[in-house]
Amino acid sequence: MNPAVCLGVGNDVSDPVQVNPPEVSSAEDAVRGVVATAEFWNARHQELGYLRSGGDAGRDEASNEILYAVRLGRLIDIVGDQCAPAAPLRILDAGCGKGWFTRRVASFGHRVDGIDVSEHAISLCRQQAVGQERYAVSRLDQWRPPCLYDVVYCIDVLFHVMNDQVWEASLRNIASLVRWGGTLTVTEHEADVTRTWADYQCTRALSRYRKILESQGFVERGFIPYGFRSGPVGFLVMARSG
Ligand SMILES: C[S@@+](CC[C@H](N)C(=O)[O-])C[C@H]1O[C@@H](n2cnc3c(N)ncnc32)[C@H](O)[C@@H]1O
Repeated sequence: MNPAVCLGVGNDVSDPVQVNPPEVSSAEDAVRGVVATAEFWNARHQELGYLRSGGDAGRDEASNEILYAVRLGRLIDIVGDQCAPAAPLRILDAGCGKGWFTRRVASFGHRVDGIDVSEHAISLCRQQAVGQERYAVSRLDQWRPPCLYDVVYCIDVLFHVMNDQVWEASLRNIASLVRWGGTLTVTEHEADVTRTWADYQCTRALSRYRKILESQGFVERGFIPYGFRSGPVGFLVMARSG
């Protein structure tokens, strides 16, 4: 995989694509896949620009500034516009990359944990921390915090998890970390089709997310498109309310 030629979140579903269901994979494939993923993202975060490496590599930095700002607004709509210094929200940024969202959400007064499989990205996050947030190198399917979260958000990560077993284990694990009454939001293409886009992106049918999350006591609150230049990606918002 060449990190410099990756498509980003703005992929149009009408682009020429390879439409394949993900292959059923062995545990060994899963381990190999996770190691390759960490290497890929370490390289991409080092080689591409500040925002392009975690945003849309197919667009320039200025466009990515807008993409990040637009999504922050959507995220605030989901997390809410309240802050209570004496009782901050506990939030997980699952797959935080270089921590752009983590720092901003922490600056709103919330207690944020940012985790990512890329050691390079987490090292940058720690250097740039605004003081309220904590970081750890971790896979989504292996994060075991001491407390549950009020909100877990996962922005443009799960469709980069190529191995189907790791994808499902990741989704199940981050969902299990949401407290009763809390919110989980994950981003995905708004489509009920599973597609593999070359060797670095696999967008999965929203019905697959819903089925797994409903089995863990979540109900859907809606799908909020990014609304960025007609791209197909948005936030699937689920509440854990049984
Ligand atoms: C497109 S970037 C998005 C980063 C960040 N959420 C943002 O929007 O700026 C995808 C990130 O997911 C991370 N990632 C991919 N697979 C992961 C996994 N299984 N566990 C944890 N992080 C993962 C990568 O290291 C990368 O930083």
